[in-house]
Amino acid sequence: MNDNNQDPGPFPWEELLSSAGEAAARAYAPFSGFPVGAALLCAGGEVFAGCNVENSSYPLGICAERAALFSAVAAGKREFRALALKIPGRRISTPCGACRQVLSEFCKDLPILVEAGETGERRLFRLAALLPHPFTLEP
Ligand code: THU
Repeated sequence: MNDNNQDPGPFPWEELLSSAGEAAARAYAPFSGFPVGAALLCAGGEVFAGCNVENSSYPLGICAERAALFSAVAAGKREFRALALKIPGRRISTPCGACRQVLSEFCKDLPILVEAGETGERRLFRLAALLPHPFTLEP
């Protein structure tokens, strides 16, 4: 499960992956055929899920990660502990650059566990390793 032998940490990964899997089943991805589910664990233990929602006007679609984060922020949450992603296929992929930047606004070093739907292969990443120099307005 680990990337660079990282400790997966005391997070409810099975619950998060199950929630990500349910969200992936609700993804609207008729154009890419790549349904993604995300489950974001808040500091208080709540879990917010999101899926990608595509559009006939292609650039208007949104990724699962941002859908989950925006839903959590809209519910008043701003502190996050972990993110689980369920992706289709065999190959492990990582959040896109836009999602890395948006996630990093709220949590610089979020642990991110990705599970590939076809094989069940898992890999753990850290946001700070995926985006070491996020844009910030802080001095
Ligand atoms: N997508 C996500 O939702 N999350 C990712 O981590 C990578 C890409 C979506 C965007 C688009 O709807 C589809 O997957 C193919 O890029």
